[in-house]
Amino acid sequence: MDIRVSGGSLQESSADTVIVNLFEGAATTGGATAALDQALGGAIQELITNGDLHGKLGEVGVLYPRGVILAKRVLVTGLGPVEKLDLETVRRASAHAIKKARELGARHVATLVHGAEAGGLKRVEAAQAVGDGAQLALYKFKAPGKKFVPPNEIESLTLVEADVKKLVEIEAGAQVSAAVCPAVCLARDLVSLPPNVATPSMLAQTAEEIAKTYEMKITVGDREWAAERKMGAFLAVAQAAHQPPRFIVLEHNAGRTDLDTVVLVGKGITFDSGGISLKPSEKMEEMKSDMAGAAVVLSTMKVVGMLKLPLHVVAIAPCTENVPGGGSYHPADVLTASNGKTIEIISTDAEGRLILADALVYAQQFKPKAVVDLATLTGACVIALGEWVSAGLFTTDDSLRDKLLASGTRMHERLWPMPLWDDYYKKIVSIVADMANTGGRYGGVGASAIFLKEFTDYPWAHVDMAGMALIPKKIETPYTPWGATGYGVRLLVDFLRNW
Ligand code: BES
Ligand code: MN
Ligand code: ZN
Repeated sequence: MDIRVSGGSLQESSADTVIVNLFEGAATTGGATAALDQALGGAIQELITNGDLHGKLGEVGVLYPRGVILAKRVLVTGLGPVEKLDLETVRRASAHAIKKARELGARHVATLVHGAEAGGLKRVEAAQAVGDGAQLALYKFKAPGKKFVPPNEIESLTLVEADVKKLVEIEAGAQVSAAVCPAVCLARDLVSLPPNVATPSMLAQTAEEIAKTYEMKITVGDREWAAERKMGAFLAVAQAAHQPPRFIVLEHNAGRTDLDTVVLVGKGITFDSGGISLKPSEKMEEMKSDMAGAAVVLSTMKVVGMLKLPLHVVAIAPCTENVPGGGSYHPADVLTASNGKTIEIISTDAEGRLILADALVYAQQFKPKAVVDLATLTGACVIALGEWVSAGLFTTDDSLRDKLLASGTRMHERLWPMPLWDDYYKKIVSIVADMANTGGRYGGVGASAIFLKEFTDYPWAHVDMAGMALIPKKIETPYTPWGATGYGVRLLVDFLRNW
């Protein structure tokens, strides 16, 4: 679906379907909805007065203008109560409306920018929200192993605004939305693809394509490459993997010393069986999503390239599967990471922090202003914050925390600050190495973060997104259907754009 912007009114729009809005409990319509209603001879007002339309979020009223205007149908999407309006409401209202439009066979749809007038939201952000809610709502995974029944495809969504002075902001928001949503969908695809398809090599190939399209520098390291760099932690996890590991480094604006450097690191475990510390088989299939961090940082680079962001952005994705075998690393093994620190393995299922350790050390060479890593790191984080509620944020830098929290809230890809207190070091004390890779059940999420901190020497933030990569059917939302969510792409893009 193309996202377009047009000056003018919905009454004159050549779209077959137009979308307006209504606040819950409003006795009358306002703004552009009122103007359209006037053209319709008060048809919307009649529905409100008769109690047939309430403006509840999720409600979409359908009216047929019968030739009074060009459009075949008018959809009135509920915005909920005015005092609760925020960007997330706009995304959801837009999602509900576009799904209704698809169901009714719409081809070309025109919409208001919900929330930008009476709602008081920033116009550029509201425009992005309308575009994001609509595009992400229509996502459907094309499973390679299943016949794809294409739904009716909407060709275009046009954001319409009568006041030409406001078009610049709407265009800016629409442009970001059109860049970011295909990347969110790419991240969803990569996470949904089975682990025998979305292998480390396949992720590297995806990165190669991005590098080619946006003229980025790319390095794909194999076992020998990692061995030359003494990445003992990454290599230990990959030791028994039949699929060859790949250490992916993708660089936008490589060599530009005049720009700030931000490094994004993503955990790329393409399947986490737990290794010798084998996981129970129940729900083990969900561990195909353990490369969501890698999928997110690679997908984000697509947007970085598309929007030509004026930053030196480096994405690092250490990718391997974590499987048991005769050549596996064992509990009790002692490894040496690329910064010389030694690690005693207690559980081979705490593999994410090991591959991230070498990736975080690798990031040091870029002398970054900030490093943000994203990882489906601990079940403990899901216990603490819940599924599809919030990721955990650990950071050594207050301004980085503020920026990330703001982006998380704005995009509704929420983060919640978690402590990085030194107390957690006690949990990972080892008598045979500098540290152990786990420290028992209690405070497991803090222990994982303090472990990672040992490999950083720059302003750093760690996002534990274990509860965010997949969404179960029972809690799917209007624009985040059951399955892979693509969580993190919109967050990172917003963070980088507002750097
Ligand atoms: N990939 C898992 C964490 C995870 C759990 C992600 C649930 C998504 C949903 C990670 O590698 C892992 O196995 N963590 C262990 C750590 C423990 C051994 C210290 C965990 O959380 O149980
Ligand atoms: Mn694990
Ligand atoms: Zn894992």
